[in-house]
Amino acid sequence: MLVIFKELTKNFEISLLENLKDNNKKEHFENLKKNLLTPSSKEEFGDYQCNTCLVLAKIYKKNPRDIASDFIKELNKNKQISDLCETLKIAGPGFINIKLKNEILIKEIKSNIKCPRAGVSLTSKTRNDLPKKVIVDFSSPNIAKEMHVGHLRSTIIGDSLARVFELRGYEVLRLNHIGDWGTQFGMLITQLKDLYSNDLKDIDKIKISDLVEFYKASKKRFDNEPEFKERSRKEVVKLQSGNNESTAAWKLLCDQSRKEFEDIYTNLNIKIKERGESFYNPFLNSVIEELHLKKILIEDNGAKCVFLDGMTNKEGKPFPLIIQKKDGGFNYATTDLAAIRYRFNKEPNGDNASRIIYVTDHGQANHFAGVFQVAKKANWIPENCQVDHVPFGLVQGIDGKKLKTREGKTILLKDLLIEAVRRAKEDLLERLKNENRNETKDFILKTSRVIGLGAVKYADLSQNRITNYQFSFDKMLSLNGNTAPYLLYTLVRISGINRKNDFVDDSKYSQDLHFENKSEWRLIRKLLKFDEVIISIEKDLMPNRLCNYLFELCQTFNRFYDQVPILKEEKYKKISRLTLCNLTEKTLKLSLELLGIETLERM
Ligand code: ARG
Repeated sequence: MLVIFKELTKNFEISLLENLKDNNKKEHFENLKKNLLTPSSKEEFGDYQCNTCLVLAKIYKKNPRDIASDFIKELNKNKQISDLCETLKIAGPGFINIKLKNEILIKEIKSNIKCPRAGVSLTSKTRNDLPKKVIVDFSSPNIAKEMHVGHLRSTIIGDSLARVFELRGYEVLRLNHIGDWGTQFGMLITQLKDLYSNDLKDIDKIKISDLVEFYKASKKRFDNEPEFKERSRKEVVKLQSGNNESTAAWKLLCDQSRKEFEDIYTNLNIKIKERGESFYNPFLNSVIEELHLKKILIEDNGAKCVFLDGMTNKEGKPFPLIIQKKDGGFNYATTDLAAIRYRFNKEPNGDNASRIIYVTDHGQANHFAGVFQVAKKANWIPENCQVDHVPFGLVQGIDGKKLKTREGKTILLKDLLIEAVRRAKEDLLERLKNENRNETKDFILKTSRVIGLGAVKYADLSQNRITNYQFSFDKMLSLNGNTAPYLLYTLVRISGINRKNDFVDDSKYSQDLHFENKSEWRLIRKLLKFDEVIISIEKDLMPNRLCNYLFELCQTFNRFYDQVPILKEEKYKKISRLTLCNLTEKTLKLSLELLGIETLERM
């Protein structure tokens, strides 16, 4: 319903300007125009409200209610406003409550039913009539290291944000900035040579059963055996100079890690393009050169750095972003600078992005603040382009501590997903027994998979991502509350209504719709807020807003379902109510898709 909101706001502005002109106060217009209309603070007040008369009262030094009354007279002269609004009423000290006409809401319902995006508008294109490009940098685990719960959060949140941008018609590049480069490869390759063969012949036949263990063992030797450490250091130099054998070993390690990541992506239905840190290697030297030419680089104790504005260390000294270490090596920040420059660069030497979104835990907030600042100083973020870090909190056990197994080990991502599905299956079997239902093996397998994985994703997305969240299987799998099973169940309910309904007629939505019940209007108003929610996520990157909205939508729908008969009604009422069921179903399905959650007809 954003279109209506914009239309109304535009006409309120016209009337406000008239009012100000009449009183010789035109200069206040720009300021007053901000937040001229807001959604009603309470449902019973109407659809929108205007609080501006309280400010006008101070300017005119008059009673705000008198001003509101004058302003309403002015507003009533505007034909567009009277076409849209049922009533404009003064309330309290001088607010104006605005109620839209029923026919306007019904028209919106009809148009949203036809719209493939349930009313969400498409974004505007660039001057060349192309969609703008958004890069979502997410998931991004590290080679030969464990993909942990933090990466799970990044994967789930990043995927959902990417889907929102896709729905809005952006070109979305989903990038997996995996940690596939760095000095750790020296020790890994040395270990590989020691354990298998020095010349790494038959390298294709090597299979490391547990890469994380392999990493730990190499690290231990690296820290304790000076001779191993020395060979590792030389190995890094060989790798960096493009030595064939070293490169083959590096590839082997990457391939084996990649397989494990891919299993998880397939399981979670995540699409992502791998473009690891190593991709930016050829551009690292020129990052240093360019920063040097632009006189941004400063040498400090042999290291090349940029001192950051507004950032100080514990002693209050300016904080540097180190871009080239004393030994000439590059680091995480150097790669991110090369990446930012590449991503905003025009094709073919770049991605031509207009916005880059980075999804990582908030422990990296300073890193990104630093990288963004340097990129701005170097002019690598073009005008009208935007970078956002999307930070998130830690995943904790119900005791508020780091998530661990009963034996105190860190929980592997794979196992966590398997466990969610196992518990969902247990719940399902219990329910089937209680309800005396017999279902096929396939049904049970699919249903528990959808519920289990959906529950994990939803539990993550429904939290305000900035705070830490407590991981509880019991909570996320509950059929009551703000959970995936509750939303899925509401959908199943609607599918049930459709199955029982014999009435199938495509022309049904062109019919006249009639509503008289409070719970119908409540549902209508909730349904029409969908586009507002999506636009706010695009702006603020908070997927939990969609979850909160869906929870409220389902509650509103279920109240409607409890309070008004649907199928046992005379025809015109039945059609009207089925239309609301259909739009609820459509909105829910679309939204769950945006959250990366599969849906079910029965459960
Ligand atoms: N590999 C990093 C980690 O595991 C995340 C990378 C995020 N993306 C980036 N462009 N720095 O913490």
